[in-house]
This record gives sequence, C-alpha cells and structure tokens, in this order.
Amino acid sequence: LASIEFEMSGIEEGQTVTIMWRGLPVFVRHRTAENITIAKDTPLADLKDPEPDASRVKEGHEQWLIMIANCTHLGCIPVGDSGDFGGWFCPCHGSHYDTAGRIRKGPAPKNLVLPPYDFVSDTLVQIG
Ligand code: FES
Repeated sequence: LASIEFEMSGIEEGQTVTIMWRGLPVFVRHRTAENITIAKDTPLADLKDPEPDASRVKEGHEQWLIMIANCTHLGCIPVGDSGDFGGWFCPCHGSHYDTAGRIRKGPAPKNLVLPPYDFVSDTLVQIG
C-alpha cells in the first residue's frame, strides 16, 4: 500500500509501537514532556546530523515522533528506551539516538529517517 492510516489514541505516553509501511518498520512514539524538553534543549552544535527538534515532528503534535525504524548505518532495528541519550540504541554496531531519533554517537551517519506523513486528526495519522 502506498499510504496507510494509523490510529494512535491507544499508544500510552512513553510507549512506542512499530507498524509496517511499504515493507518498512516504522516507529510511532508517544513522547513524554521530558523527552520533548530534552530534545528541544539539545544544542545543534552537539549533533552529528544537526536538525532542530521542531523539524523532526509536526507543529502542534510534538508528542508524536514517527520514523523509519532502520538504523542509518546498516539497517538494523534499534532498541527503544535505551542508549546514552534516552532514545534508541542499535546493538549491531553501537549507534545511539536521542529522543528525537537523532544520531548522537556511534557509526550511523544520519538521523533516523522520517517518512512522509500528515495528521488527519489529533490522533489519526496518514503515512505515505
Ligand atoms: Fe546500527 Fe550498524 S546497523 S550501528
């Protein structure tokens, strides 16, 4: 399917679910206020692939982080709620991502990739 709709109201704050889109795993994370504050307060100078938190999410929906779940090094699926930056850790070769899915440490060159998506309502998202 080129695009899918996904209802996120059942995802608790702090929880991440993995769904499939075009054969790719996609993380949908309901970020906590703390996750968001940490991501916003991170200086861009600390980032290997500098992107402000605001460009990783949609305005007015900052609690929802939606990303393709393949490490940008060699494609493994990182583990959530782990690593040195409170986001994801890729055990294959040790890449650490933060609470905005930005690469912070390890061999991955880029932030986790964002799929194209739009909000249909506050909790219904269309991916693709
Ligand atoms: Fe993730 Fe290599 S595939 S660190």
